[in-house]
Amino acid sequence: MPGNEHSGYPHPHLLGIEGLAPSEIEAILDLSEKYVTQNRQVDKKQSVLRGRTQINLFFESSTRTRTSFELAGKRLGADVINMSADGSAIKKGETLIDTAMTLNAMHPDVLVVRHPDSGAVELLSQKVDGAVINAGDGSHEHPTQALLDALTIRRRLGRLSGLIVAISGDILHSRVARSNILLLNIMGARVRVVAPPTLLPGDIDRMGVEVFHDPKRGLADVDIVMMLRLQTERMQGSFVPSVREYYRYFGLDRAKLAYAKPDALIMHPGPMNRGVEIDSDVADDIQRSVIREQVEMGVAVRMAMLDLLAHHRRNTLAGLVA
Ligand code: NCD
Repeated sequence: MPGNEHSGYPHPHLLGIEGLAPSEIEAILDLSEKYVTQNRQVDKKQSVLRGRTQINLFFESSTRTRTSFELAGKRLGADVINMSADGSAIKKGETLIDTAMTLNAMHPDVLVVRHPDSGAVELLSQKVDGAVINAGDGSHEHPTQALLDALTIRRRLGRLSGLIVAISGDILHSRVARSNILLLNIMGARVRVVAPPTLLPGDIDRMGVEVFHDPKRGLADVDIVMMLRLQTERMQGSFVPSVREYYRYFGLDRAKLAYAKPDALIMHPGPMNRGVEIDSDVADDIQRSVIREQVEMGVAVRMAMLDLLAHHRRNTLAGLVA
């Protein structure tokens, strides 16, 4: 029955991984699988979102996330509008809420929002009628990235539970790290963070991770090595002595990768800074690196999310759910 695969996600928005149940995450990943298959066909178009309007509202620059959401919406048949902060009224001093209210008056069904401030997307979701998807808010959450990472891992290794995942790099400024830590913990994986103390958040001890400052120990016997970029645009002041020193000590190369399990997978959300957090030799290793697969999974996960939220909204409007 078509309705069944949609019954597992009971929320009006996707604002973060926090608060999701394991069964809800499974439901999103299961539906995403269908879209992975669909996206490998010659004809990728569906009409699930025909007649719906999706606005991608990006207050921060983005390549893969915005393109991915745009493709996802179009493949489901939605009318997709892209708006960025450059060249919009935001540049002219309009507040976030005024922008939201203006767009809301045009009756979008879905708003995909990226914003430099943590919490801004949730605030916006309280002011509009459509479904809101958080495409990254400050250093808070980036839920679809964690979901696409989970899908990539689950397809390669068959499960999430019991795996050891090392996340290494600028954890402090990374919404990708936060969403991944939350998701992996919910799904029963063990998470390690590997970073210098200056790049770890103050509340790291309460995030359910093991902390390592030495990559050799942190990467020992892990199943997954997830590398993150230094988010210099969010840094005020100096967080690492020099990029060269950072690369020597924390950059992933063959020698450091050798501490992980022999078949450990290499992941990176992009954009990569080659020669800073990762060496080209390992980033481009087709046996071990799943970085391009992550991008492919991104479109499928976003299609699944758009589908689930549209379904929820249809039922809400029909008075079937609260
Ligand atoms: C990340 C982001 O924007 O949070 N990129 C992405 O969405 N794939 C990570 C980053 O910018 O480093």
